[in-house]
Amino acid sequence: MTIRLAPSLLAADMLALGDAVQAVESAGADRLHLDIMDGRFVPNISFGLPVVRAVRRATRLPLAVHLMIEEPERYVADFVEAGAAMVMVHQEVSPHLHRTIQQICALGARPAAVINPATPPHVLSEIVDTLDVVLVMTVNPGFGGQAFIPQMVDKVRRTAAMLRERNPGCELAVDGGVDAETAPALVAAGADVLVAGSAVFGHRDGPAAGLRELAAAADLERVL
Ligand code: DX5
Ligand code: ZN
Repeated sequence: MTIRLAPSLLAADMLALGDAVQAVESAGADRLHLDIMDGRFVPNISFGLPVVRAVRRATRLPLAVHLMIEEPERYVADFVEAGAAMVMVHQEVSPHLHRTIQQICALGARPAAVINPATPPHVLSEIVDTLDVVLVMTVNPGFGGQAFIPQMVDKVRRTAAMLRERNPGCELAVDGGVDAETAPALVAAGADVLVAGSAVFGHRDGPAAGLRELAAAADLERVL
């Protein structure tokens, strides 16, 4: 299984975002993860469309936009236009999730559904065949640098089982507290996309070293 690494720019130096993007692109990141927060669905506010547009111009990597906002369907088109190759929407704010997924596909982007720690994977069972990615939050969304919730490893395992049965081509991503310590258990449980902010951009030796350390940790488990 190929493990994909998606650095989250939330933990990068916002005044030197271009350098951060360059560093992880040349260090072998597979895609960039951009966290959009509205101060409503989650308690924090991050950045929005202008930053996505600027990042789009600065890299060839695909951009995955993680919408932690209420009524995400109102903004999907804007984010695709800004350069998102993948749009990740939360099940918890999407009473018409199937429609929103269809909307993302119609715009030519890859659809992903996200579930919070308190949300069971089976809420996606009826639409999982329409998804390119399921993202399991391994912290409560809203902030970088939070402690990983260990109970989520078992949820990742159960989500992986659902995907094997219903949509084996669907990626299983994890987000929150992912680092060299937590990655091996997540990969062993079936995660194949690792989103990481602090572990990459907060690494003492810089983002390239952070990314390499994460890749090594994920690889190790793959061999085991
Ligand atoms: C949290 C965001 C994450 C965040 C992860 O709400 O969705 O993508 O950047 O940060 P770390 O890796 O520091 O937990
Ligand atoms: Zn995220």
